[in-house]
Amino acid sequence: MENTEKKQVVFSAIQPSGTITLGNYLGAVRNWVTMQEEYNCIYALADLHTITVRQNPAQMRRNILDAYASIMACGIDVEKSIFFIQSHVHTHAEIAWILNCYTQFGELGRMTQFKDKSAKHADNINAGLFTYPVLMAGDILLYQADKVPVGADQKQHIELTCDVARRFNGLYGDVFKIPEGFIPQNGARVMSLQNPLNKMSKSDENVNGCVHLLDPPEVIMRKFKRAVTDSDACVRYAEGKDGVNNLMTIYGAVTGKSFEQIEAEFAGKGYGDFKAAVGEAVVEELRPIRERYEQLIKDKAYLEECYRKADETALKISSRTLGKVMKKVGFIR
Ligand code: TRP
Repeated sequence: MENTEKKQVVFSAIQPSGTITLGNYLGAVRNWVTMQEEYNCIYALADLHTITVRQNPAQMRRNILDAYASIMACGIDVEKSIFFIQSHVHTHAEIAWILNCYTQFGELGRMTQFKDKSAKHADNINAGLFTYPVLMAGDILLYQADKVPVGADQKQHIELTCDVARRFNGLYGDVFKIPEGFIPQNGARVMSLQNPLNKMSKSDENVNGCVHLLDPPEVIMRKFKRAVTDSDACVRYAEGKDGVNNLMTIYGAVTGKSFEQIEAEFAGKGYGDFKAAVGEAVVEELRPIRERYEQLIKDKAYLEECYRKADETALKISSRTLGKVMKKVGFIR
């Protein structure tokens, strides 16, 4: 590993709140894999974030291990990158408390995700849901990250992270690197196959709306065959054709073909052919991932070895920043 010092640091995290979906894969994880070549990558399972919404403990344990194995199966190389579990690294909860004292109530009240989530979980608008972006800011700032790839829905949280970091630096000097959030260009925004105006989500009411990374081929094919399209009966990317646009986005992301190429390929063909082709392309893309997952999930000892090692490294790096922060604030060391 030469030139390690010169490489920029990338940090990102994903919540293990259920299975990993095709949307998570094409929108985020696949890009995490690519970035391993060029950057020093630090990735986390943000399980502390997950409990802002009530979880079943046994299910949550399964989800965490499953997500860890799934993401490794996508191609995260634990020799190259640090892939750890947030709750195993105590510096995250600690810095979150400190940063809470440097974040204003009004700022957090403006977060659109908080507004959406509190409307959705009206019976449990807990303080964690409110301060969720501060924990996220801590995740990023602890590692002095240069770049943070995120989905469009997290952009506002990155802006808040930068605001809090600048405020802290303004008071105490250069403690935090100001990170740059970005939405990966090749990260596809995948929508529900049943309601293409909504993001593909594991909590979709209609099971056919969401493809899971580990869905068997026949299930994937069935979901694509049932995907919502329109009455235009023409494969082309255009406004108002949300279902077809989404299928084209998925097909393009998986095959590398442009929209023009896809339109040419399916000129004169019906949606039936098109949907089958998208399904098959996705099946082939996910096949090696599912096979690798099946091997990994059988070997719990190996998985544990991987995350223990990553947790330790993450603790070492993040402790440097936390120590600095605590000293600046005025705690006795
Ligand atoms: N909040 C992010 C999401 O739900 C996950 C996350 C937690 C994250 N901490 C992060 C993403 C730090 C980027 C950086 O998608």
